[in-house]
Amino acid sequence: MLTKPWHKLSTWFQSNISTPFETEHGAKLWEYACHEPTLNEIFNDGMASDAQLVSELLLDDKCKGVFEGLKSLVDVGGGTGTLAKAIAKSFPGLEFTVFDLPHVVAGLEGSDNLKYIAGDMFEVIPSSDAILLKWILHDWNDEECLKILKNCKEAIMSKGKGGKVIIIDMVIMEEEKKKCDDDTSVETQLFFDMLMMVLLAGKQRNEKEWAKLIFSAGFSNYKISPILGLRSLIEI
Ligand SMILES: C[S@@+](CC[C@H](N)C(=O)[O-])C[C@H]1O[C@@H](n2cnc3c(N)ncnc32)[C@H](O)[C@@H]1O
Repeated sequence: MLTKPWHKLSTWFQSNISTPFETEHGAKLWEYACHEPTLNEIFNDGMASDAQLVSELLLDDKCKGVFEGLKSLVDVGGGTGTLAKAIAKSFPGLEFTVFDLPHVVAGLEGSDNLKYIAGDMFEVIPSSDAILLKWILHDWNDEECLKILKNCKEAIMSKGKGGKVIIIDMVIMEEEKKKCDDDTSVETQLFFDMLMMVLLAGKQRNEKEWAKLIFSAGFSNYKISPILGLRSLIEI
């Protein structure tokens, strides 16, 4: 299901259809996953596997500080909750919400400090001190990302004192850095950029593009820290 769309690049390129995925399957990825339990299951398992790896890094001494002092956190598009569960275990005083589409969180049970909520991040995001967006924004175009970030801003502002948005995503290397890095990293970044175009009409962004999105959504500053290979932690 995920490889066939690569054979539809030229048909897609000459059409008005949003992605090669939709050209092949006749529906957008998330709609298709909703009606195709095999894809839903395999995709969620793949994400959970990545979340396990990233959670180990996020909870080491270098990164842990990002969650300190928070009382509540919503993992938007948090899948089946692997990352949230790991953080919730290390921060028992922090209230966690995993927010995702109904077919992803259906039947999942929370724990003392973790609950699941089904919803649409383009409508409204539950209010909270902080929002986590891991591998979300690269799935969407700039206009859609702006809508998500504005909804995140509303969710953290409704608590009254403002909060933060924690993004885990790729930041495409600048030209000077590309020259000193090995070819494999550059190829991987460009491959991911194409993968997002093929499956979801999304893209990978460089720092300039991230900054433009962040400021256009009304936030005043950001900090980028590389955490794992090509993945970075962006705190807004
Ligand atoms: C690339 S996955 C990332 C999952 C998880 N954050 C991780 O990194 O392991 C994107 C997630 O966004 C969810 N999603 C897509 N559209 C959504 C929407 N409109 N509202 C809420 N979640 C959505 C998908 O169901 C999926 O779980």
